Amino acid sequence: MRLFTTIAGLRCYLGLHRQGKNVGFVPTMGALHAGHISLIEGARSHNDIVIVSIFVNPLQFGPSEDFQQYPRSLEQDRQLCQQARVDAIFAPSAEELYGSGTGDWGLEIGVARLPIPDSQSPISTTVLPPENMTSVLCGRFRPGHFQGVATVVTKLLNLVQPNNAYFGEKDAQQLAIIRRLVADLNWSIKIVGCPIVREASGLALSSRNQYLTLEQKEQASVLYRSLQQAKKAFQSGDRDRAILIDTVQQEIAIVPEVQIEYIELVHPTTLMRLEKVEEAGLLAIAARLGSTRLIDNVVLRDR
Ligand code: PAJ
Repeated sequence: MRLFTTIAGLRCYLGLHRQGKNVGFVPTMGALHAGHISLIEGARSHNDIVIVSIFVNPLQFGPSEDFQQYPRSLEQDRQLCQQARVDAIFAPSAEELYGSGTGDWGLEIGVARLPIPDSQSPISTTVLPPENMTSVLCGRFRPGHFQGVATVVTKLLNLVQPNNAYFGEKDAQQLAIIRRLVADLNWSIKIVGCPIVREASGLALSSRNQYLTLEQKEQASVLYRSLQQAKKAFQSGDRDRAILIDTVQQEIAIVPEVQIEYIELVHPTTLMRLEKVEEAGLLAIAARLGSTRLIDNVVLRDR
């Protein structure tokens, strides 16, 4: 397995090795867990070459968010990638990816330059997904976040030029926005959505779960249980927004430590608010437990 920290190194490797081969790409921010590994396994079973990127993207973190604390464990990630038979890791610095002048990107500088309203102009060309997809769900609470995601994913897809790129359904809004990005920019890259990997308790795996104590992890599993309740209600015929959201809310209320940020019902592709599930609905939650932000979701559809 190779590890590249420079764009030139990655390009040289792909130039030498890709001829006529299928490339599968898994973008990550590292601190790899079984959720990431499931994406890598998906890529491994359908492609000749598997590339994983590891880059904690400053552009997608807000001023009061956890860019500095975000777990970084490159050596462990390298071993996990090797075990999963990854061919190459791309782990650039912020300077390498965004250009000179960003070397000292601390939180303050990075955030001062985030392309959010009232900030200074962004440090590079940025990619702005449609407003109706970024002003809902997590976008309401994380201004600039999906612009940061769309920008880095655009750069990474352009660099790797994969045939297939793998994203988790855990970040359902991110997946919908990336599908739209790829369609709008006319890339012939297949975006593959992968199911949410969970702990035995139902808690969705996340690099941010490292911030939780054992007790908090147990408390956090109520998010999954609440979605399962709503799924049961859906399967027994409940289709209305109010009923489905109320079901989730009541279950979460059992664990007062879990503070709901939003519970939403939207269309899984367009992210348009739904009053009623017709063909499919994405029921999504964001909540806080202490200072940790957690998200989870379920797609409701008739089989
Ligand atoms: P990160 O949070 O590291 O996640 C990388 C990929 O792993 C994403 O596609 C995410 O949806 C997926 N993933 C995370 N937890 C998962 C789980 N429990 N089950 C299945 N898939 C899971 O998402 C990002 O990084 C960044 O925004 C990125 C796309 C890399 C752009 O910076």
